[in-house]
Amino acid sequence: MKKTSSASKAASDKPVTELPERWQTLDHGIRVGRYIDREFLQLEYDRLWPKVWQAAARVDEIPQVNDFTTYDIGDQSVFLVRVDDDTIKAYHNVCPHRGTALAEGAGTFEHGNIICPFHGWRWDTQGENQYILSREEFRGGKLCNSDVALKSLNCEVFAGFVFINFDPDCIPFGDFIAPVRSLLEDLNIKEMRHYWWKSIPIPANWKVAQEAFFEGYHVPATHPQLEEAAARFIYGEKIEEEFNEFNHHNVDYETFPGGHGRFYAGRASNYQGNVKRFAVGKDPVDAMADRFQLLVDGMDAQVLQGDVDLLRSLRGKPIPEGSSLGGEYIRVLYEDAAARKRPMPKMTPELLSMWGGTIFIFPNLMVFPQAGNAMIYRVRPDAIDPDRCTFEILSTRSLPADTRGERAEVEFVTDGDDPDQVRQIPRQDLGNLKRIQKGLHSRSIRQVWLANHQEKIIQGMHKALDRYLVDE
Ligand code: FES
Ligand SMILES: [Fe+2]
Repeated sequence: MKKTSSASKAASDKPVTELPERWQTLDHGIRVGRYIDREFLQLEYDRLWPKVWQAAARVDEIPQVNDFTTYDIGDQSVFLVRVDDDTIKAYHNVCPHRGTALAEGAGTFEHGNIICPFHGWRWDTQGENQYILSREEFRGGKLCNSDVALKSLNCEVFAGFVFINFDPDCIPFGDFIAPVRSLLEDLNIKEMRHYWWKSIPIPANWKVAQEAFFEGYHVPATHPQLEEAAARFIYGEKIEEEFNEFNHHNVDYETFPGGHGRFYAGRASNYQGNVKRFAVGKDPVDAMADRFQLLVDGMDAQVLQGDVDLLRSLRGKPIPEGSSLGGEYIRVLYEDAAARKRPMPKMTPELLSMWGGTIFIFPNLMVFPQAGNAMIYRVRPDAIDPDRCTFEILSTRSLPADTRGERAEVEFVTDGDDPDQVRQIPRQDLGNLKRIQKGLHSRSIRQVWLANHQEKIIQGMHKALDRYLVDE
């Protein structure tokens, strides 16, 4: 497949009334062509990415006026610039003179001047042209500023993300985000700031990569250290527990209009002190803290060391009548945050159940909230290869009032299997992906099977994708 050419753009304008069989979303599964065919990747580039709202950046990538960053999707490049404290603008990353990309990576436009490195044409951050060398030579001396203004895109800041949309006639952002708006607002995701951010090249389709995080069904087999009882069952040792005691059975799944979804731990979450089954012969505080320590050591995201230290501070303290270990943990977390004036999520049973869960924002963004922290995943397809994608992990946390955070800067991982570059838990997840992609190429498989409930977010995502790809 070639990069999107004008010829393929023209082809994509033809109505698509039905997808061929090997690209269909089925009631109980997904046809494998959606993950491996170059033509399907091209269809996504023709019909999904030019039309959909997509998270191009976090606001802390461009904290100061005139800071910029770039965002590439396929062969299209955009740059985002902070115009003032309240305004961020997105522009197509191209010089109207002879096509040079105006921005690379991230940086600052000194004095608000956007200067093309080729011949020095200059714009302000509002996109207005300010200077053209030998201007009288262009268009017979009648070149208007409007002929050479930078072309902006739709751009909305929400929950600390900068969302963009290439389509001037796109659905309003408010309609797009409505199903997950209150969850993201109440979890205070807009207050989350950079802790670390890694970009990892993955030898798998972008949908394969993100779907590995749409369910907790994989946890016992992929992360046996996190669900030892279920893992013993899977890996064939005799156990006495009932299968319904296993952690991932407490997880609930929900899909929303527009392809968004969420899963959440429900009331039995061990994030809230439900540690009976880990606590046999152990102090319950230690049982819960040891479990959280696995997450800190294995991810350094979502649950952070400070949270575990606060939990351990409860050791030896009696639990007041009517409270619980989970209740006391939540109390000390919020007391500590209040003392440091650190923003936290609202505290409602529904939001507490999201700790350890995920909110999926169609088409390629995931937020894993916890108290005052969030891990964020974003997945982007390779420009031309359906067997490759870029997977980003952002570890974020809210900061105490009056603390200026660092400007978010990405680190490029060169080897996703390297324990020095990627921690254990994502490495376990990402390690499956190349095997999945390899298997999907087998001539013996036509579709994958999906669990009705535990894998419903995958189904919901593909159905929403089809609404972009197929004309009504
Ligand atoms: S290409 Fe940009 S000024 Fe010439
Ligand atoms: Fe996982």
